[in-house]
Amino acid sequence: MSSDSRIQIAPSVLPADFSKLGDECIALEEAGVDRIQFDIMDGRFVPNLTFGAAVVASVRDKVKIPFEAHLMIEEPDLLIPEFIDAGCEIIIVHEETATHLHRTLSRIKDLGARPAVALNPHTPISRIEHVLDLLDMVLIMTVNPGFGGQAYISTMEPKVEATRALLDTADHWIDLEVDGGISDKTVSGAAAAGANVLISGSWLYKHPGGLGAGVKELRELGQAAAGQ
Ligand code: DX5
Repeated sequence: MSSDSRIQIAPSVLPADFSKLGDECIALEEAGVDRIQFDIMDGRFVPNLTFGAAVVASVRDKVKIPFEAHLMIEEPDLLIPEFIDAGCEIIIVHEETATHLHRTLSRIKDLGARPAVALNPHTPISRIEHVLDLLDMVLIMTVNPGFGGQAYISTMEPKVEATRALLDTADHWIDLEVDGGISDKTVSGAAAAGANVLISGSWLYKHPGGLGAGVKELRELGQAAAGQ
């Protein structure tokens, strides 16, 4: 797992064919992605309902690349151990669902996983300024969570820039991830603003050249925008 500013491509499996999720993960690894994000939705924090830790566990041994769980769920503390046991190296909790965020992030670390926090478009970055020491990654949502295929919210770019500046005050590298509407048209703005981990679902799965071509295009556009 890289802990530096290199551009990383992390697909969301939301658009994948769930009837053959194992094969879909193998295809993503072969396409050259750096890790795989599982969108966990409970139908309460977000309107949609996806899948639980058992589904993630069922595909863990199909590939070697890291898994991350994007917990778009109420009361994440109840399920964090299950997703770590299922093989997720990174656990992303939404700040909006964590009454005691410092305690939740500390527990993820104590359980041997890498803590990350997601902020919805309306949530100010000041909400995480006192837990930087516990964070391996921050996810700035560039859509309102719950569905794939939504339009990128470009007004989040100044927020990404401000987040990068905040994370750079920490005494260790903290990845900055963006999620929602990332495509060939939007990746450059996000990467230029400071995002180095790029989540893509619908654009990647619809790429005319296939997953490998999509990963390559997204990575090259992100690297160019980041001056890498
Ligand atoms: C938000 C989800 C989506 C998904 C990516 O609820 O987290 O952002 O991962 O969706 P696309 O790339 O289709 O916008």
